[in-house]
Amino acid sequence: MSKVYVTRQGPMIAVHDLSLEMRHEHFVCLLGPSGCGKSTLLSMIAGFVTPTSGRILVDGRPVTRPGRDRGVVFQEYVLFPWRTARQNVELGPLLQRLPSAEQQQIAERYLALVGLAEHAHKYPRELSGGMKQRVAIARALANAPQVLLMDEPFGALDAQTREVMQEELLKIWLAERKTIVFVTHSISESLYLADDIVVMTARPGRIKEIVRVDLPRPRERGSPEFVAIARSVERLVKEEVLKAGLV
Ligand SMILES: Nc1ncnc2c1ncn2[C@@H]1O[C@H](COP(=O)(O)OP(=O)(O)OP(=O)(O)O)[C@@H](O)[C@H]1O
Ligand SMILES: [Mg+2]
Repeated sequence: MSKVYVTRQGPMIAVHDLSLEMRHEHFVCLLGPSGCGKSTLLSMIAGFVTPTSGRILVDGRPVTRPGRDRGVVFQEYVLFPWRTARQNVELGPLLQRLPSAEQQQIAERYLALVGLAEHAHKYPRELSGGMKQRVAIARALANAPQVLLMDEPFGALDAQTREVMQEELLKIWLAERKTIVFVTHSISESLYLADDIVVMTARPGRIKEIVRVDLPRPRERGSPEFVAIARSVERLVKEEVLKAGLV
């Protein structure tokens, strides 16, 4: 697929002739220089942005609009400030018009899964950044999506919280068995999480290389194998960052 944005300066090719197959229940990370089209690709899978050419299939069905089968979690905490954590998570089930007992049950289950059972009654302003992202993840899961699309979900968190969130997400993924597409700028995050790391080229975004990470989980961040793969991924990304002229 390709995506060309029409701008005042003329057409801007964000994604060019990109073809990618993601396997059911696999964890894929997208890495690449700023502006290479990662968010654009994710938004196209989510159905927020229409490809200029080509198409996206989920389980053989073409994507034409956003849908409950694809949950999204972004870097900013897009929670409704006037709703409690529980009410934020209940939103999907509410829109589906499930009976209220069921809405509550689903919200409780996913808040517990993200470790927030005790904070269900709190409003977003009463929660830390990490907690807010947990609510956002619970809210996405409450729709029972097949695919979880995550755009730098831990980008705004401090380093320690970020590692804890990676560990939690891994547990959730193992328990819930979703297909996850996860955008990050952190090589170590991608190595900790992914089955496949898709390294994109500088804009217009294409696939530069797909790095398969075959290490058993949970991965040891400082292990020689981990560090060796991290170095080679870093080299790939750096080549593209230099091409993009971002340094
Ligand atoms: N709605 C839009 N209209 C015009 N241009 C856009 C639009 N959205 C993104 N772009 C441009 O498309 C290119 C790809 O943007 P995108 O946000 O997908 O990159 P990215 O890889 O997610 O970058 P980052 O790592 O900084 O988040 C950029 O040059 C950006 O300026
Ligand atoms: Mg982006």
